[in-house]
Amino acid sequence: MAAVATSTSLAAVSNGTKSSSSFPKPDFAGLRRISSPSSDAGLFQRFRISSSGCGKSVRPVVAMAGTGKFFVGGNWKCNGTKESVDKLVSELNSAHLESDVDVVVAPPYLYIDKVKNTLSARVEISSQNSWVGKGGAFTGEISVEQLKDIGCKWVILGHSERRHVIGEDDEFIGKKAAYALSENLKVIACIGEKLEEREAGKTTDVCFRQMKAFADSVPSWDDVVVAYEPVWAIGTGKVATPEQAQEVHAALRDWLKNNVSAEVASKTRIIYGGSVNGSNCSELAKQEDIDGFLVGGASLKGPEFAIIVNSVTSKKVVA
Ligand code: PGA
Repeated sequence: MAAVATSTSLAAVSNGTKSSSSFPKPDFAGLRRISSPSSDAGLFQRFRISSSGCGKSVRPVVAMAGTGKFFVGGNWKCNGTKESVDKLVSELNSAHLESDVDVVVAPPYLYIDKVKNTLSARVEISSQNSWVGKGGAFTGEISVEQLKDIGCKWVILGHSERRHVIGEDDEFIGKKAAYALSENLKVIACIGEKLEEREAGKTTDVCFRQMKAFADSVPSWDDVVVAYEPVWAIGTGKVATPEQAQEVHAALRDWLKNNVSAEVASKTRIIYGGSVNGSNCSELAKQEDIDGFLVGGASLKGPEFAIIVNSVTSKKVVA
């Protein structure tokens, strides 16, 4: 697996001004396993798995600090043609997708209607963006009302390409999230640091600032999935190591616990995005604070996307 050539420690930086010891250790009590598994029964999502007919009893085992259902989204970005979309939909329709995963795809606007009409209802549809308020005289924009009308259940907001290529800021993204939620469109809220921010030891500063902008705007976290997507990992083939991703996910869950509530921290799915593929998903999925994935390039291939969806099985460990 190609990993970015920086330390696995969040705060470790090339100029040595910070070390991992300067990163405040979060208090995870109540949210993740810190002692014996039996001491936190009920706090962790439990999976009961079958013993494939061997007759041995198995007990449920865990690799989740949160209690939300595994979630995998496919962000198709600005890719595809009518023909390639048809092919991808037919691959997804014939793929086996584990039942205990929420699966969502985000086609380009132009193809949403086509996908909605041909893709199995097992997979929900997201848009890749939405307008900040009610529709009207906003040339080139698509409103939340229109997205709902066409069958979207979700919208991706705060994606790094919209932040850093299009120039959307925290406040604007927060307003979009609030409006989408007010109209019952669920939100995949993306955050993540750039490489220079990571190298300057600012990963959590940036991610927490972006989280705060969402927290300041959204009335409730019930319909929000947080996607941690380090910018340096998106579309680069440089996936975060499982340890790098886990470290930030744990910090984000801890942030939710301290700044929203323990209940929201436990229930909110925190998914990872950035060069996830069929080969690296399983190791990432084993991390206890990784509740799923937001997938770009690899979501354009149906069989590979299905492998990523089915990496939920990596969380199920025979005791
Ligand atoms: P990638 O994109 O999987 O191609 O890196 C992820 C994303 O942008 O959501």
